[in-house]
Amino acid sequence: PEERKNHWFVGSVDQGTTSSRFLIFNGEGDPVASHQIEFENLYPKSGWHEHDPMTLLNSVEECIEGAMRKFQRLGFSKNDIRSIGITNQRETTLVWDHETGEPLYNAVVWSDTRTKSLVRDLKAKDGADAIKDFCGLPLSTYPSSVKLLWLIENVEAVKQAYEEGRLAFGTVDTWLIYKLNGGAQAESPVHVTDSTNASRTMFMNIRTLQYDDKLLGFFGIDRTKVHLPKIVPSSDPECFGRIASGALSGVPIAGCLGDQSSALVGQCGFNPGQAKNTYGTGCFLLYNVGTEPVISQYGLLSTVAYDFGQGRAPVYALEGSIAVAGAGVTFLQNNLNFIENAKQINDLAESVPDNGGVVFVTAFSGLFAPYWIDDAKGTLFGITQHTQKGHIARATLEATCFQTKAILDAMEKDSGCKLKLLAVDGGLSNSDLTMQTQADISGIPVDRPAMCETTALGAAIAAGLATGVWSDTTELQEVNRTGRKVFEPKISRKCAEKRFKKWNQAVQMSRGWLQ
Ligand code: G3P
Repeated sequence: PEERKNHWFVGSVDQGTTSSRFLIFNGEGDPVASHQIEFENLYPKSGWHEHDPMTLLNSVEECIEGAMRKFQRLGFSKNDIRSIGITNQRETTLVWDHETGEPLYNAVVWSDTRTKSLVRDLKAKDGADAIKDFCGLPLSTYPSSVKLLWLIENVEAVKQAYEEGRLAFGTVDTWLIYKLNGGAQAESPVHVTDSTNASRTMFMNIRTLQYDDKLLGFFGIDRTKVHLPKIVPSSDPECFGRIASGALSGVPIAGCLGDQSSALVGQCGFNPGQAKNTYGTGCFLLYNVGTEPVISQYGLLSTVAYDFGQGRAPVYALEGSIAVAGAGVTFLQNNLNFIENAKQINDLAESVPDNGGVVFVTAFSGLFAPYWIDDAKGTLFGITQHTQKGHIARATLEATCFQTKAILDAMEKDSGCKLKLLAVDGGLSNSDLTMQTQADISGIPVDRPAMCETTALGAAIAAGLATGVWSDTTELQEVNRTGRKVFEPKISRKCAEKRFKKWNQAVQMSRGWLQ
C-alpha cells in the first residue's frame, strides 16, 4: 500500500461545460496536483450554445502543463504517471475534416436548443416511438444525433464534407483523444469513443454497444459518408493511444468516461441500487441498475454507467438529467449581477429565511427529465414588493432540488424501490443550504464526500484499472470514504409535499412559450 500511495500516479482530464481541469491522483485516490481553467461559453443566439473546439483543446493542454509543473515541484516526473483518463461533458457535438483534422464548425453544446423544430418533425416520423427501446434515450434537443443532423442540413462546409465523405464526427472525448494523439498528423490517427459517451448520441444500440443501422437510418445518416468513432470499452491500455507532445508526451491514455458516468465511478457506486447526483453546470442523477439496461417508462434515460472491458459485463444506469443547476447561479452572477462570484450564492440565499413565495423554473434549455418540455422557458413566479435578491437566489437553488425530487419519484416508479441515500458531488454540492434543502424536499439523507473531485477520480480509476494501479473495483472500497457529511431531512413530509406541489404547478405554467 505504501508503494501504491507514494509512487503510483494516474492523471485525469476533466473537460466540463464551463471549465477544464487536470488532476493527478495517487494510488489511494487522493489528488496531489491540479490545474483548472475556465473558458468562454458562446451564446450567439437565444437558445444557441457553442464552444470553440480549439479553445477546449488548448485549455486541456494548458491544464496538463500547469498541473505537471506542480507535480514536478513535489519531486515527481511524468515517469511516475502510469496513464491518464479522460472525462468530458457529454452529447456536445464536434465535426471536423477527416483529412486535415480542422474543425468545420463550433462545438454545439449539449444544452443548445436550436434543434427544437427538427425534433418536433422527428417526433412525427414513423417509428419515432420505438427508438427509445433501442438507444435508451427519448427524442429531445439533448442528444448528439439531432445536433449532427442540424449541422449537416445547415452548415455548408459540413454538408460538403458529408457529401464528399470527409466528415468526421465526435463528442468531446473523441475530439480530445484524436488531437492529444497528434490528430490527422499522427502515424495512425485515433478516432474512438467509449460506450458511455456513445450511449448519449442516439446512434448506439444500448444492448450491443455498437452503432445500429435502424437508429442511423431513422436520423437519415448515411454511414458511408461520415466517419463515426469506433466504440470501445471505457478502460483499456491500448485503444486510446498515447499523448503525442508536451509534458506528458508518450504517456498512455487508458480510460475514458462521460462525466456523469465518471462521477458514479468516482463515488464507487459499483453496486445495483447505488446512486449519485452531480451538481455541476447541469445536474445529473445516475442510479446503478446492474448489467441489464432498464428502459424507463417515467421520463428517465437509460445509459451505460461504465464498461470496464476485459471480459467484465457493462453496467447500466437510469439517469435523470437536469439542464440547469450551476448555470442558474452563473445566470444570477453574469446576467443579473446579483453576486460577484459563485461562492457568494450561499450567503445571498441565507440572507432571507425562506423563498418568500418565489418559485423559479430555470428552464433555460426547456425542461429535461422527467418532464421533457422542449418549449418551456425560464419563468419566475410569486414576485411581490416583498421580494429580495435573496428570495430569487433561494428559488434558483431550490429549482435543482425540486427537479431532483421529481427524478427520484420517477426512479422509484421505474425500479420499484425507494433510494435510501443520495451521494452527491459537483460545485453546488459545496452549498450546505442547497444540500439541506435537497434532503428536506426529497425526504432522504444526502451524503457528501470530503473530496468533491469525484468526476476526475472516476476517469483516473478507469485508467488505473487498465494499467495495473488497481486490479479490481473491490480494491477501491476505501477510496474517498473519510470525512463525508450526511444531511438528514429536517422538515415534515407534509410540508415538503406542499412545496413540491407548488413547484409542479409552476412547471405546468412555464410551458408553451413557443414564439
Ligand atoms: O450531459 C451533459 C453533462 O455531461 C454536462 O456536465 O458537469 O458540464 O454540467 P457538466
